[in-house]
Amino acid sequence: MRRPLVAGNWKMNGSRAEAREIVGGILTGLGRVSNAEVVVCPPFVLLAEVSTAIAGSLVELGAQNCSTERAGAFTGEVAVDMLADVGCRYVIVGHSERRALYGEADDTVAQKFEMVRKAGLVPILCVGEQLAEREASATEAVVARQLDAVLALAGIDALGQGVIAYEPVWAIGTGRTASPQQAQDVHAFIRGRIATHNPTVAAKMRILYGGSVKGSNAAELFAMPDVDGGLIGGASLNAREFLTICAAA
Ligand code: 13P
Repeated sequence: MRRPLVAGNWKMNGSRAEAREIVGGILTGLGRVSNAEVVVCPPFVLLAEVSTAIAGSLVELGAQNCSTERAGAFTGEVAVDMLADVGCRYVIVGHSERRALYGEADDTVAQKFEMVRKAGLVPILCVGEQLAEREASATEAVVARQLDAVLALAGIDALGQGVIAYEPVWAIGTGRTASPQQAQDVHAFIRGRIATHNPTVAAKMRILYGGSVKGSNAAELFAMPDVDGGLIGGASLNAREFLTICAAA
């Protein structure tokens, strides 16, 4: 009942020519391989280019971040209405790189979640623990804190309009994937925590796994009962690899 979703987070990679090449490759191969919902999230400056390239196809567009503000004197920021205008349906909020490198706190992430949702777009809320937190057995506490910040501001029904991505920080860009069971355990914890607020929302909530997902490990991760697809970094920059992942979902 939960349609799998595979989203490619290109991070700060790609030129216009590379974007055309990646998207062209995805469009050529996609029809054959996927019943999953497929999303690409290029950097802001490539959104218009990619939006044009995917027009009329099954591929959807997402952004990697947005402002907490609607419009105005916020130099360097990008408003969610601009993202909607260029054709985005999804916006990633609270990616661990935003949290760790740009100081985004839980309450800022919650504000962004609401900004995206109220604009009629779908927030992809990233949660996940650092290595030291996992080693200190704090994974559930960290993920709960990150989720609860959004629940406190937005409420359970609003949370249900988004997608969650569990991305253990120690697995991002490291080649060190969480094992399927490690992913499943945290996904089940997240779903269970949401269920304490509203079991219907929990049953419908899509929870993606992210962190060194590749064509070679996607199937075993996606086979877990609470893993509803993936948020893919490095492997989403290669159309063939990304399509293999989509096919596994
Ligand atoms: P990698 O797939 O490169 O580990 O990145 C995961 C990620 O951060 C996706 O948002």
